[in-house]
Amino acid sequence: MTAARTEQDAPAGAVTKVVIPVAGLGTRFLPATKATPKEMLPVVDKPAIQYVVEEAVAAGLSDVLLVTGRNKDAIENHFDRAWELEKALEQKGDQERLRRVMKSQILGDIHYVRQGDPRGLGHAVLCGALHVGAEPFAVMLGDDLIDPRDPLLPHMLDVQKRYGGSVIALIEVDPAFAHMYGCASVEPAEDDVVRVTDLVEKPEPGTAPSNLAVIGRYVLHPAIFDVLRRTEPGRGGEIQLTDALKTLAGMPAEQGGGVHAVVFRGRRYDTGDRLDYLRTTVSLASERSDLGKEFRAFLREFVAQLPPEVEDD
Ligand code: G1P
Repeated sequence: MTAARTEQDAPAGAVTKVVIPVAGLGTRFLPATKATPKEMLPVVDKPAIQYVVEEAVAAGLSDVLLVTGRNKDAIENHFDRAWELEKALEQKGDQERLRRVMKSQILGDIHYVRQGDPRGLGHAVLCGALHVGAEPFAVMLGDDLIDPRDPLLPHMLDVQKRYGGSVIALIEVDPAFAHMYGCASVEPAEDDVVRVTDLVEKPEPGTAPSNLAVIGRYVLHPAIFDVLRRTEPGRGGEIQLTDALKTLAGMPAEQGGGVHAVVFRGRRYDTGDRLDYLRTTVSLASERSDLGKEFRAFLREFVAQLPPEVEDD
């Protein structure tokens, strides 16, 4: 089986590699994540990580590097063939389920590298240095799902091609939540594209430079690797990708510097904590062509009979 689009099909100079860090411990979902990677938690009937890999492959990023850690074997198994299951479904003539099982194994060309020490997102990206080499590449974080109807990565890839350097994605957030994200200072460039002048990882509440928050999609110049090697541990004692991007934003273009951002206004779903995960599952289930109608009917009934909220004294 081959990927829908392969590196050979890609236009010359196109970005084809994506690094997806999946080594996190998923402590916010314990005990579900005691023996199961959080990336394998199903959003409706598909593991969260599969949505992300499908988004990558749809954007032409068919060379996927997953940066894994201990206890992540289930992810490798998911993207591998499952002979017994295929055979059993074939014998039953269950073509529909067979198609669903096969889908996860024809996605891109998937590689793995281990992070070893959990030293932060910047360190996870640095683990991809050897695989990526000296070309621009994408980074995707598994907690963010982007609706395929609002393609973000293709736009970012186009911006990177035109401006060079690196490209990040920003959303406007309520200032009260800015301290939960990387935050950017920007200057206008064109329509929904801005030039990034400064970045701060999870600013102290009330000190964010703007309400523009970094989300988990990046197209990076390979100069990021050298910068990451020199980046001291930052917020939480971890090597932060945001800190390395701040350095790149201040570097000349000839050295791979310059950071632009796409301000994304499309549909994005967060699976990072339990409440966001529930919201995402309900939103996506209610829009499914196979389940949505019945599920929406259930939701209407369910909401109608909810008791009114009683505020605590
Ligand atoms: C990471 C980044 C942060 C970004 C966020 C988006 O943080 O470090 O800059 O805003 O992803 O989801 P994390 O949520 O992994 O702590």
